[in-house]
Amino acid sequence: MRTLDDLLSAGVGGTAVLVRADLNVPLDAGRITDDGRIRAVLPTVRQLTAAGARVILLSHLGRPKGQPDPKYTLKPVSVRLGELLETQVAFATDTVGESAKETVAALENGGVALLENLRFDARETSKDEAERGAFATELAAFGESYVDDAFGAVHRKHASVFDLARKLPHYAGNLVAAELEVLRKLTTEPARPYVVVLGGSKVSDKLGVIQALLPKVDRLLVGGGMCFTFLKAQGKDVGDSLLEDDQVEVCRQLLAEAGDKIVLPVDVVVSGEIAPQATTRIVGADEIPDKQKGLDIGPASVAVFADVLKSARTVFWNGPMGVFEVAPFAAGTRGVGEAVRAVDGLSVVGGGDSAAAVRLLELGEDAFGHISTGGGASLEYLEGKTLPGLEALED
Ligand code: 3PG
Repeated sequence: MRTLDDLLSAGVGGTAVLVRADLNVPLDAGRITDDGRIRAVLPTVRQLTAAGARVILLSHLGRPKGQPDPKYTLKPVSVRLGELLETQVAFATDTVGESAKETVAALENGGVALLENLRFDARETSKDEAERGAFATELAAFGESYVDDAFGAVHRKHASVFDLARKLPHYAGNLVAAELEVLRKLTTEPARPYVVVLGGSKVSDKLGVIQALLPKVDRLLVGGGMCFTFLKAQGKDVGDSLLEDDQVEVCRQLLAEAGDKIVLPVDVVVSGEIAPQATTRIVGADEIPDKQKGLDIGPASVAVFADVLKSARTVFWNGPMGVFEVAPFAAGTRGVGEAVRAVDGLSVVGGGDSAAAVRLLELGEDAFGHISTGGGASLEYLEGKTLPGLEALED
């Protein structure tokens, strides 16, 4: 896989470089609530502009339905990018239309432009190879080389991730290279004990990774909404907690096969509502009352999880332990985050909501070994799947 260094040593001054980034940041009424993914791509952008390249950034944001939707505009991202880079970032109001053409043509050497959300064009995510290819050809016309720094999107077979790489000389950006280096450490003889902490709402989303990881890890700690399907599989009542009925049997099998490795919460925080002023109670994992939802793991569970993590030498954490965005349900994620942070060894936070939790709960990004920008991408990597974006870069 060629890297940014290879491109820089070939010389980029005076050329236009397309950089696919994952600028899919959380927004609240147009306000960016976590700019981690924007900051993560800055080193690649800075190295290219310092070398005199014209940088054309491409990204998706959210999941619009293949047509322009103001809710998903990248405009606020271009503003934040400009602030962080301390330079004017030109913004094209379309992807391959007149605005994009004018913006790219007006860009000066060392300048940065961002095109509008790629998913405003249905061809970006199309299953039809010819459609994706046609969109990629139009994008490719804007530059002479392609750098993929969108680690969070390498698991998507989309035009800008897969097809575009095949149309131009292609390179892995700093972020993709750094993410891969860490993930390789997790998959190549990790220091033991190797502990994985999984949370988040759905077991079905994580089943592949659970099955792939169970033979490799020493312990799998399960919290978040998904733990209730496991608790149900143990025969416990879970009240109105999140439950995937169709996954109970699979969880039962996993517990039968690897129950010694899987660690479940022993207590949970329950409430009738998800609200900042919610009345909460801490109950045993086998005492969840009817009509109450489990919304966080309880303090005894945090202590059990922290005890396992204390001796770990490699940890991968993906998914919050509860509804951490709402104060009464944040303690479990905070407690587990603190225990992961304190690990004497490699601690990796696997993107998505857990990365957002580290920043929102101010757990201190630098105290972790690595915070991935890719939730789904890092899980699919650990699952051993072929990731289209990486496949295209290796080609
Ligand atoms: C992510 O948030 O995991 C990436 O940006 C990919 O987004 P997607 O799941 O909408 O493809």
